[in-house]
Amino acid sequence: MNAIDRPLQPVVLPADWSPSSWRARAATQQPQYPDAAALAQVQSELSRLPPLVTSWEIFALKKQIADAQEGRRFLLQGGDCAESFSDCESGLISNRLKVLLQMSLVLVHGLRLPVVRVGRFAGQYAKPRSTDLETRDGVTLPSYRGDFINQPEFTAEARIPDPRRMVKGHARSAMTMNFVRALIDGGFADLHHPEYWDLDWVQHSPLSEEYRRMVSAVGDAVRFTETLSGEFLHNLNRADFYTSHEALLLPYEEALTRQVPRQWGWFNLSTHFPWIGMRTADISDAHVEYFRGLRNPVAVKVGPSVTPDQLLRLVDVLNHENEPGRLSLIQRMGAGKVAEKLPPLVEAIRREGRRVLWICDPMHGNTESTSNGYKTRRFDNIRSELDQSFDLHASLGSRLGGVHLELTGENVTECLGGARMLTETDLERAYTSTVDPRLNYEQSMEIAMLIVRKQAALARPAQA
Ligand code: PEP
Ligand code: CO
Repeated sequence: MNAIDRPLQPVVLPADWSPSSWRARAATQQPQYPDAAALAQVQSELSRLPPLVTSWEIFALKKQIADAQEGRRFLLQGGDCAESFSDCESGLISNRLKVLLQMSLVLVHGLRLPVVRVGRFAGQYAKPRSTDLETRDGVTLPSYRGDFINQPEFTAEARIPDPRRMVKGHARSAMTMNFVRALIDGGFADLHHPEYWDLDWVQHSPLSEEYRRMVSAVGDAVRFTETLSGEFLHNLNRADFYTSHEALLLPYEEALTRQVPRQWGWFNLSTHFPWIGMRTADISDAHVEYFRGLRNPVAVKVGPSVTPDQLLRLVDVLNHENEPGRLSLIQRMGAGKVAEKLPPLVEAIRREGRRVLWICDPMHGNTESTSNGYKTRRFDNIRSELDQSFDLHASLGSRLGGVHLELTGENVTECLGGARMLTETDLERAYTSTVDPRLNYEQSMEIAMLIVRKQAALARPAQA
């Protein structure tokens, strides 16, 4: 039987899985905690603290992702590369929300599809690193691995992994979630009031004219529908917002993995949509074992070294039942490699009838260092990878159903190019990321507009 035709239910819990079965495998990218008793104490404390999300929300997101897999929605996932405890403040959180809401308005308007909104926040505190140690001026210390684990300052004390930071990170995640939920429930995302999402510094942006036109068109459509139906459209008052992070630090994730009343199986209740990073996605890695037994929708980053065979085996482990909405593949190849590396993977997934949502992360395959020592990304490469990905999927009879971006609502200068043509000397002006360079507001909006233009072009019959 073709996998697509298989019955959807029941999806069974693997009998040989438990929230701690990952411990029998080699777990890469984990800190070496100096005090095992302190770590155990933190895990026990965390396992009693309230969860951050509910199983109902997790199911609702899974349904939305299943719709996106069928082409009935588009997924927008974005936020910081690494959240930091000190950035847990109202202005930064609401600005990030504003950018995501503005981008989703552009996408809804242009694609004529509902958007699944997923933040990279409320738990994005653990980072994989290419080396365990960092050397500066002859001094070698453990690398900074994210605020969940240690601190970025280059001192011996700051770099010691401290398990108490997980408890602080859980609290910061809860504060972030609480504020986002309160804003949304209070009407911040109301489509009747897109002016709530205006960011002060963008009034003179080269893109603001185009955005204003869309806002006004959406406003007209809303008023028209309300006049016609004689009713106020209450369901436009709020937008669903989901959270995601790289579930890298397994002791934290395990402590937040829970059972809930009247449901079978286990849920990661620290986030709606955890993902496995590229460096920990090997089929033998403890992360794959941990993810295998969750009921959440999950994602895995797919880089240029993955072969079709490896991908199919991974997909089989992570979504054995081919359940709708369960698995997303976040491709991150790089602008120069995507045309060569992506097609065999897309073809294998299609040939085997595996149900996945393809999401393009055009950021992580396009990182480079400048001559003045900054880690950056060129907007042109980001745009090119995205552009090529849409075409490649379309030409293979597949569909690119989402985008995964590192972005911020602040006026940072971390990525080169874009509408204001930022140059290497601009990087010094406002580079605040502790790990990877993010798109600023204007660059993010440009990407949203580009997606709309691209989809419109793909929908038009080819000119003779
Ligand atoms: C990230 O998303 O910040 C990241 C580290 O990505 P990747 O696993 O794709 O390298
Ligand atoms: Co990153």
